[in-house]
Amino acid sequence: MKNIYKNSQKNLNKAKKILEKNNIIAVPTETVYGLAGNAYSDKSIKKIYKLKNRPKINPLIIHYYNLRSLKKDAHLNEKFFKLYKRFSPGPITYILQKRKGSKISKFANAKLKSIAVRFPSNKIIRNLLKELKFPLAIPSANISSAVSPVSSIDVFEEFGKKINFILDGGASSIGLESTVISLYDKTQLLRPGAVHSKEISGVLRTKVSNPKKINKIISPGQLKKHYSPGIPIILNCKRVDDKAAFIVFGKKYKNGKNIFNLSSKSDLKEAGKKLYKTLRKIKKLGYKKIKVMKIPNNKIGIAINDRLRRAAY
Ligand code: TXA
Ligand code: MG
Repeated sequence: MKNIYKNSQKNLNKAKKILEKNNIIAVPTETVYGLAGNAYSDKSIKKIYKLKNRPKINPLIIHYYNLRSLKKDAHLNEKFFKLYKRFSPGPITYILQKRKGSKISKFANAKLKSIAVRFPSNKIIRNLLKELKFPLAIPSANISSAVSPVSSIDVFEEFGKKINFILDGGASSIGLESTVISLYDKTQLLRPGAVHSKEISGVLRTKVSNPKKINKIISPGQLKKHYSPGIPIILNCKRVDDKAAFIVFGKKYKNGKNIFNLSSKSDLKEAGKKLYKTLRKIKKLGYKKIKVMKIPNNKIGIAINDRLRRAAY
């Protein structure tokens, strides 16, 4: 496809030029693909919201290369340093107090007093961030409330020619959006992800629980319906029949035309990586309904179940 660009120095330079002109590109990260724009530019941020058809009240995550570049934009606290040391760069986002003098566009954080910040570990996006004089606002590269893309082709399917530069980085290694933890006001997990609550509790030496029910919106962006493939999903099913598409997990399931095993070796990481790809595939095959068997609710399984519940809402 014409608008998908391989990872090369030449293409990184191209990407850089587009971003410096306050235009938007799609980029790989280890979690999911995102739409990237200059976080200091109101114009870029407005373009992102428009492309995604995203409600203005739902703030974006600002992506940084390192701590030095973050210090101008946020107040850093002790909990942040502890978690940063253990988990960053990687699939975790911190909510911090925004600095008064920060150049981050007020539209990027929905005019809140806080901002969300992340240090992605994917080499390609890191190389790009390193070259830029500004951080990048990067929401997932899907139309608001749809399934996040985990490959450059997925991004193309979401936006077609509306995004004319998609930087290819192969399949996202994690496949689920980052863990979001608020360290502003209260310490609170807002979105489960590959870094799970037990690991965070271990580092902070205090219990950090998973977000409770999905009908309570804590963060402006915790909209209930989300990650939706656009067909009904039924959770915690017990028996396979031959009409719906079945998403299963584990050794005990046989293969079948309508059976989609997230991991036949019962590996939750593999299941996380395959979830969004599987939802897209099922939709493309024309199924009208998805049934999901129980998936273990621990470690990254908590994030998988969270996304499935929202997709089913
Ligand atoms: O893995 C990821 O985080 C991906 C990749 C591309 O980096 N990005 C991503 O962005 O998932 P997005 O925009 O799809 O999700 C951002 C989440 C939303 O739930 C939003 O509400 C929350 O972060 N968020 C952002 N700023 C916030 C703030 N100041 N307070 C509370 N929640 C915030
Ligand atoms: Mg998203």
